[in-house]
Amino acid sequence: MRFYGMPSLHEGGMLFLLDIEFWEDIRMEENKTFYITTPIYYPSANLHIGHAYSTVATDAIARYKRQRGYDVFFLTGSDEHGQKIERKAKAAGVTPQQYVDTIVAGFKDLWKLLDISYDGFIRTTDDYHVKAVQKMFRKLYDQGDIYKSKYTGHYCTPCESFWLDRQVQEAGGVCPDCGGPVELVEEESYFFRLSKYADRLIQYIKDNPTFIQPNSRTNEMLQNFLLPGLEDLCVSRTSFTWGIPVDFDEKHVVYVWLDALSNYVTALGWGSDDDSLYRKFWPADVHIVGKEIVRFHTIIWPIMLMALGEPLPKQVFGHGWLVLDGGKMSKSKGNVVDPVALCDRYGVDAIRYFLLREVPFGSDGNFSNEALIARINTDLANDLGNLLSRTVAMIDKYFGGVLPAPAAIGDEDAALIELAGELPARVDAQMNELHIPDALAEIWKLVGACNKYIDVTAPWTLAKSDAGRERLKTVLYNLAESLRIVGILLIPFLTSTPQKLFAQLGLNDAQTAYGSLAWGGSVPGATVHKGEALFPRIDVEAELAHFAAEAEKAKAAAAPVEPAKAEEADEDAPLPEIEYDDFAKVDLRLAKVVAAEEIKKSKKLLKLTLEVGEETRTVVSGIKQWYAPEDLVGKTVVLVANLKPVTLCGVESRGMILCASDAADANLSALTTLAPMESGLKVR
Ligand code: MSP
Repeated sequence: MRFYGMPSLHEGGMLFLLDIEFWEDIRMEENKTFYITTPIYYPSANLHIGHAYSTVATDAIARYKRQRGYDVFFLTGSDEHGQKIERKAKAAGVTPQQYVDTIVAGFKDLWKLLDISYDGFIRTTDDYHVKAVQKMFRKLYDQGDIYKSKYTGHYCTPCESFWLDRQVQEAGGVCPDCGGPVELVEEESYFFRLSKYADRLIQYIKDNPTFIQPNSRTNEMLQNFLLPGLEDLCVSRTSFTWGIPVDFDEKHVVYVWLDALSNYVTALGWGSDDDSLYRKFWPADVHIVGKEIVRFHTIIWPIMLMALGEPLPKQVFGHGWLVLDGGKMSKSKGNVVDPVALCDRYGVDAIRYFLLREVPFGSDGNFSNEALIARINTDLANDLGNLLSRTVAMIDKYFGGVLPAPAAIGDEDAALIELAGELPARVDAQMNELHIPDALAEIWKLVGACNKYIDVTAPWTLAKSDAGRERLKTVLYNLAESLRIVGILLIPFLTSTPQKLFAQLGLNDAQTAYGSLAWGGSVPGATVHKGEALFPRIDVEAELAHFAAEAEKAKAAAAPVEPAKAEEADEDAPLPEIEYDDFAKVDLRLAKVVAAEEIKKSKKLLKLTLEVGEETRTVVSGIKQWYAPEDLVGKTVVLVANLKPVTLCGVESRGMILCASDAADANLSALTTLAPMESGLKVR
């Protein structure tokens, strides 16, 4: 990196440092487009913090590119078809469309809360998408790349995946992805000739080493899927109807991956009368996806595009998972963290910062309350927040709130100025590789350097003498100017903090534009304004006690009624008569206990994993006192399946199993059936 020093821009003679190559690059980027996408999310349940992770990361990249002058299109959306949604809607007693409408409204609320700056939101039930997919399907059929045949295989509803006999056998008779039950299906289906394009794709991947990122995922795709040989892909189903009808054979609906993947081009108008966005933005610069769906995006999707004669996306980036206690968060495992509750408690920027900073983008990382609080207290409250409040307070105290002009430059000033001068290029290099946490770490190097600079220059001592006060002008100018640069560079990551910081430093819009990043943009004479702490420090002990109390409250709410309370409530008294309709609101199902374990933190609770038909779910039950976990495994129980989920000791419980007990709870027995019956059956 080359730096050029120029003498004085402001009175007082400071150095003005620029990286000429870097600023030339900025100019070049003004006419470029940038198309970035998230996966489209299944509206089978509300989104959790893992989904938010994917979208916040994509948002930060989109915002960064916009800041660099690109014409950005950022697409997200919902993947609404498939058997799982059809079944869930049925269980909820609504139409699939009603079901997805409610959940997708929740997606949009969440993205609004998290300040997600998407330019397009596609729903696969949107009419224009349906028509374009039908057109795509027909084109592939007409040119012989889709053909009709018979499908025999195993289907996993939660994963929406078909598996071959061999794959299911190797996994021990269950879904190789989620370990849940699979159903044997045989039906007439349309198939897509993946096999025909395999060699071309292998060559493409070898010729374009940055197509699949991080690099390790390239090998994984080649070794595990492409080199062993591709089988043709089933792209239609006849066993359910909630999908896009194949318009020339209406008993078939398009199988969900072909429907889902095509969103990236249909959203831009591919196949419609107006494809101007498609011509402007395609091929995508990067599809951001979770690691488990890299294979669909780097095999099925490029082959679909090859067959259609369209250009391939420039890159597919597979990020890791945000895990909880080592396991992937999922609604069916009952270990999800709600992003809305976190934002309400800590603020959106704190949550965005944690998601963007904590986990190397591409690897898995653990979510914990402790880690979240530590990031907020250390990086945000101490390092950044205190730096700003100290700087503003000192300008206030020593110079009446008016930013002083800097004077002569010493070694420690030059080091700070050089670091600030290098920072935009360093952040840019990290962001070009999508190393988001590293970009933030670079910014925090300047924050850290400023805090050290305060320690070394000791402004409170300088303030005591006339000579010191001259020096103090330079010190405080340098701090305010470093903070201005930090604020500008934080704009893509945090959505309200930079503005608060600029307001306290008394900066105007021109001084906070990316083009004004070069050292010297703060103008002496500006008035600073003391404001609230950017991030109030969290009392760790009190906060952890709060979580423990919340867990206890939830536990108490779900545990069997305490004997004393039971007496008060006279549980034995007959209840008032109800209509059959009232009873019918309770969805009682047979469930098989496939696993059971103690919840260590609790005296009462067991965590049960239940098979309910095709579904696997977690139920927390207050029966530890009466049952050892191993007594329950393999047993059939009666589940209240539509009870609102509650979180007990950090485990989300989805339902309640029925038990009979005497008034003092001395004896308790879980209910079962007289004859062996399949799980999932309705109890009525
Ligand atoms: N509908 C498909 C994607 C089709 S894209 C053409 C799908 N939907 S999903 O809702 O199940 O998942 C969407 C994304 O969320 C995936 O990229 C997945 O990896 C991501 N995540 C779900 N849980 C996650 C974590 N716990 N952590 C990080 N990402 C997570 O797959």
